[in-house]
Amino acid sequence: MKQPIGIFDSGFGGLTVFKAIRQQLPQYDYIYLGDNARAPYGNRSFETVYEYTLECVRWLHRRHCPLVILACNTASAKALRTIQQKDLPHFDPSLKVLGVIRPTAETVGSYTGSGHIGILATRGTVQSQSYAIELHKFFPELAVFQQACPMWVPFIESGEAENEAMDYYIQKDVKALMAQSPEIDTVIMACTHYPMIQDRIRKFLPPHVQLVGQGELVAMSLKQYLDNHPEIAHSLSAGGTSEYYTTDDAAAFDQGARLFMEEPVASVRIHL
Ligand code: DGL
Repeated sequence: MKQPIGIFDSGFGGLTVFKAIRQQLPQYDYIYLGDNARAPYGNRSFETVYEYTLECVRWLHRRHCPLVILACNTASAKALRTIQQKDLPHFDPSLKVLGVIRPTAETVGSYTGSGHIGILATRGTVQSQSYAIELHKFFPELAVFQQACPMWVPFIESGEAENEAMDYYIQKDVKALMAQSPEIDTVIMACTHYPMIQDRIRKFLPPHVQLVGQGELVAMSLKQYLDNHPEIAHSLSAGGTSEYYTTDDAAAFDQGARLFMEEPVASVRIHL
């Protein structure tokens, strides 16, 4: 029986993490689930993000995923801890759910020379303060500046990422972040959707500022986690397959996902 790694996001964004994970660990089987029907999560309440995320995680567990990655910062910020501490011990303590904030924070703090770091993220991630908290655990001296970008994911999820109107919002939010400190020299795309528009984010940043995505950081951290936990690595099946599921229209998902994965994607629509 297949025992795949489950990868979850509110929609398309988690594909940026999935792609990096699959490059790093091609041997495993994967199931990707995008909750496109209810995306974006970024402006939703704590309770709603938790409830939706838990439903998706349980669906992935029913599909025999012993390990699930929340490839979504909003879900990692608002739902991960409760799922790990409250829910998993009840339904099966051997199941694991990991997020994307800690693996990003533990590395990226070392990239800055000025000690001033900028975070671009959804409103939910910013409000949770998760990045500031996690970064300060590893790099207590850092000055962390955050900017919520509530319009970015709605454009991407609705297939309007190329729309010029989006530039207005990108410029506005990037400017607002940099206005908080001219010393910011490193900016984290702390939403897994943002690498899909990274060229346009870069366009509005001063040239000396480095723009960092999470995909490779999360992939490297997962590899290390599996090296350190051979019992979990051995519970995974290694057939090298990828399956895609969405809670919305499958044809629309395939079209969007294909562009990003650079290969044909054939998803199946599910009802949670
Ligand atoms: N891609 C997700 C994140 O990393 C969710 C964005 C959203 O659904 O608003 O935050």
